[in-house]
Amino acid sequence: MKTVLVAGAAGYLGRYAAMEFRKRGYRVRAFVRDAEKLKLPGPGHEPAISGFVDEVFTGDATRPETLAGLCDDIDIVFSSMGLARTERQLTWEDVDHQGNRRILELAKKAKVGKFVYVSVFRPEEMMESDVVRAHERFVGDLKASGIEYAVIRPNAYFSDMAQFLKIARSGHMFWLGDGECRINPIHGEDLARVCVTAVEGSIREIDVGGPEMFTFRSLFELAFEAVGKVPKITFLPLWIGEAALGLLRIFNPKLAGAAAFFVLVNKMDNGAPAYGSRRLIDYFREMTTGTSDNPKQ
Ligand SMILES: NC(=O)c1ccc[n+]([C@@H]2O[C@H](COP(=O)([O-])OP(=O)(O)OC[C@H]3O[C@@H](n4cnc5c(N)ncnc54)[C@H](OP(=O)(O)O)[C@@H]3O)[C@@H](O)[C@H]2O)c1
Repeated sequence: MKTVLVAGAAGYLGRYAAMEFRKRGYRVRAFVRDAEKLKLPGPGHEPAISGFVDEVFTGDATRPETLAGLCDDIDIVFSSMGLARTERQLTWEDVDHQGNRRILELAKKAKVGKFVYVSVFRPEEMMESDVVRAHERFVGDLKASGIEYAVIRPNAYFSDMAQFLKIARSGHMFWLGDGECRINPIHGEDLARVCVTAVEGSIREIDVGGPEMFTFRSLFELAFEAVGKVPKITFLPLWIGEAALGLLRIFNPKLAGAAAFFVLVNKMDNGAPAYGSRRLIDYFREMTTGTSDNPKQ
């Protein structure tokens, strides 16, 4: 039986990945900062997974002294570890790049067979964004490492779409651009299947989206439908965002690096190859009715 280290196991994708690995017969070592989190569902309705984990390794990727032995006896590393929400004192460079690099170094020493990493879709269009640059610096390290690897490139997760429900509940949404750019977000469970299949396959870079294609406009309308409100959306010209970004670049380059993602994503076609079967309206309904996505363990 192979053992997989799941880094980011308490996060949205990491939980589904741990469950999928376990279902396919792997032993799962979960790398987390807080083991208690595994016992409870996450904020995007991702399930509690303590019943799917064989071993918990508690540490912090930004603190090397907490990582000794992390990859010992590990066959596969899967990492969806990243700084998805901003944290004081930490940057994407600290976690997404340097943190994952520490795990990669340990994986090399432990002679791990394969490292599967979750980056972003079409990074070349978004290199101005700090988070995208940090992801791709790590991808560069991974490719140069000599270890067998796969890079998963999802465009958007259902958990991130939940933010639009909150805005729809407030009754009025503002958005940059004309709302016609395409996007097909994916449920964590569907994405986890792609990730685990990548471990077993030979494709090195996989672009991934969900089964339903939306324009941002139709996606927002769905969010309003789910909360039972009439859509009220104001689309602001893209130049307003670009002008604000231009000013930030001069007066606050750090904030510009963080904000760039939100402007760039509205300028590009985010439609990715379709995988999975979970529908966004069902997820929106789960989020609005409070029903749990927690499977039997
Ligand atoms: N969301 C999207 O639409 C999207 C699209 C494409 C790619 N991605 C990328 O996919 C990855 C996973 O996304 P997600 O939504 O699953 O994120 P998430 O829910 O925030 O999970 C990330 C996990 O990384 C862990 N982590 C953060 N800093 C750490 C540290 N210093 N040491 C150890 N663990 C640490 C977090 O631990 P805690 O639980 O303790 O905070 C969290 O469990 C991210 O890298 C993200 O950039 C996301």
